[in-house]
Amino acid sequence: MEKERKLIIAGNWKMNKTVAEALDLVRGLKLELANVKEVDLVVCPPFTALCEVSKVILDSNLRLGAQNMNEHPGGAYTGEIAAFMLKEFSVRYVILGHSERRTYYGETDALVARKAQAAHAAAIKPIICVGETLEEREQGRTEAVLERQVRGSLAGLTKEQMLETIIAYEPVWAIGTGRNATPEQAQEAHAFIRRLLAELYDEGVARRVRIQYGGSVKPSNARELMSLPDVDGALVGGASLEVRSFSDIVKNSI
Ligand code: PGA
Repeated sequence: MEKERKLIIAGNWKMNKTVAEALDLVRGLKLELANVKEVDLVVCPPFTALCEVSKVILDSNLRLGAQNMNEHPGGAYTGEIAAFMLKEFSVRYVILGHSERRTYYGETDALVARKAQAAHAAAIKPIICVGETLEEREQGRTEAVLERQVRGSLAGLTKEQMLETIIAYEPVWAIGTGRNATPEQAQEAHAFIRRLLAELYDEGVARRVRIQYGGSVKPSNARELMSLPDVDGALVGGASLEVRSFSDIVKNSI
């Protein structure tokens, strides 16, 4: 299957794994996925495992991502992590505005946009998450919500920065529920987001930016979801916590 955009599959480990467990997982992935060249592969361990994981994946095709980042360059922000600290471990990607951060920690589109600026300033590629709740979908507000989130979270990004940004469409009702979006729902939302990018930037940017799908991606649905014309990868939660399921998702997507 040849696609215009290279697939990018990222594992969002969320608040799971000790350092020892993280190393077991990443060593297994390194072996299982050693020959994969067709897909950009990213693992996003918790902050506490970044240092050790970075050493193990140094000579591999796995890249490192963080799950969050502070918007300030550094200073008196107790409990927070700045971009320069992530750079120390060769972090290349950072997930921003995940629905769990929006819901539990009150992150707004404006904050996500500031974090995206800070990430780009450090040459870290943001993976910006957007997605509607079940209630919003049932009320027919999916496109309005996506438009608000995309416009707000990308605010101020230059064309060059946009080309180094990844968007993850994650319908909130599909996250951790076992209930993935149907191929039609996913394709429709992705195509909508791509049209927005054409409006906000231009057709060339819209054609090049990768849009991941996230929400109950598993080995059994990866092939169908990844083959959709506007789906360019996956952001995987639960199924990224085991070597078998994450590597099967990758292999089934090629
Ligand atoms: P899930 O999570 O794969 O467990 O549904 C996806 C995510 O939250 O990124």
